[in-house]
Amino acid sequence: MSKNQIRSIKGTQDILPAESLKWRVLEKKIHDTMELFNYGEIRTPAFEKTELFDRGVGLQTDIVTKEMYSWIDQGGESLTLKPELTAPVSRAYVQHSLGVQKPLTKLYYIDALFRRERPQKGRFRQFHQFGVEAFGSEHPEIDSEIISIAVTLFKELGLKDISLKLNSIGSENCRDKYKDELKKFLKPYLKDLSASSQKRFETNPLRILDTKSPSDIEIIKNAPTISNFWSNEDKVHFDELCELLDTLKIKYEVDSNLVRGLDYYSRTTFELISPSLGAQNAICGGGRYDKLVEMIGGKPTPGIGFAAGIERIMMTLKNDTDKNSIDIYVVGIGPKVRQTVFALADELRQSNLSTECDMLRRSIKSQLRDANKIGAKYAIIIGDKEFENKLVEVKNLNNGEQEKVAIKSIISHMTSLSF
Ligand code: HAM
Repeated sequence: MSKNQIRSIKGTQDILPAESLKWRVLEKKIHDTMELFNYGEIRTPAFEKTELFDRGVGLQTDIVTKEMYSWIDQGGESLTLKPELTAPVSRAYVQHSLGVQKPLTKLYYIDALFRRERPQKGRFRQFHQFGVEAFGSEHPEIDSEIISIAVTLFKELGLKDISLKLNSIGSENCRDKYKDELKKFLKPYLKDLSASSQKRFETNPLRILDTKSPSDIEIIKNAPTISNFWSNEDKVHFDELCELLDTLKIKYEVDSNLVRGLDYYSRTTFELISPSLGAQNAICGGGRYDKLVEMIGGKPTPGIGFAAGIERIMMTLKNDTDKNSIDIYVVGIGPKVRQTVFALADELRQSNLSTECDMLRRSIKSQLRDANKIGAKYAIIIGDKEFENKLVEVKNLNNGEQEKVAIKSIISHMTSLSF
């Protein structure tokens, strides 16, 4: 590698044509699935005021304390590349009064996000999410719809061995009581906890339940569980959600330690886990955020959603997408036929047939080799002799069959073939 060569930034990836074709297939499935569920696509700016994430995601979260790409712009304002989309989508929901038009607003997105995390398998600094957010209903029906969107999509994609973890972290009052009890339980073990859990003891004790440290896990095994602190309404909400998931035949495992890493959650939290992903095994995560809209200046509005990591979905998909192929390669050589090659390629594309032709002035043989290499289904060969007789040769590159066709009827001939 030359010393002069500029390379991409650590934790970012180029998506090259063979790979981006697979992304397009996935994106199409996402758009089709969201249409089935009647959700509208939303696109928000790449950067927002830093305050949106400070307030929305929470000052004590890993995202806000150490992972945001923030800067002061020339106007003196603190801006941040979006590290997640629930806060920006909620901001747009409030700003455009979307709730006035519809009592239930159902949105989805596919977008790039930025977090300065330690790059590893399945964890990047620029990554992509497909996410869904629904505003306006506190009822468990929408929780079950949101979860079933994720399950339906992953089933449609043929992903196997995915398990759904489900919890409720209750409403605010119950959580405050639970935090106090959890801290009381953990206090005698404080010095035995990992450094990060010790830090979280004061700032965000619930997150200790998320720990990956084996010795912390041993300690919290006997910790009080949040379900014992749920209000009656929290319990009814969770039980009704479980009943709805049973009706939809969606299997789940209740995990009372699933608290998630963003501060806006209340009641339902869930994750879909794929063991094949290794340490970063969460393919998708989400939950209810009934206070978020209010926290960023809107009217109190319940909300729920999830986001799935596109790179992680791609990692679990088999490499079975069709290779990038085109319909026709127009082959010809020499100044006499060059214009005809170009005009014909243009006409074929206008007839909706994907068409390639040579730009490197190669021999007929190497143009045909190129046609095979890129997976063209037919070659139209314009040889000098045929050209004089106003004929072309059409070759089926799958079975080698060849026939002569009059130039004037080549478009109708090609459009009548099956591709
Ligand atoms: P999250 O758990 O931070 O939640 O991210 C959701 C998903 O994005 C993860 O399960 C993972 O698949 C993917 N992901 C996260 N960070 C990375 C990374 N550094 N590299 C690759 N993939 C990553 C949220 O973002 C919430 N906004 C989800 C939500 C929507 N909750 C309610 N609505």
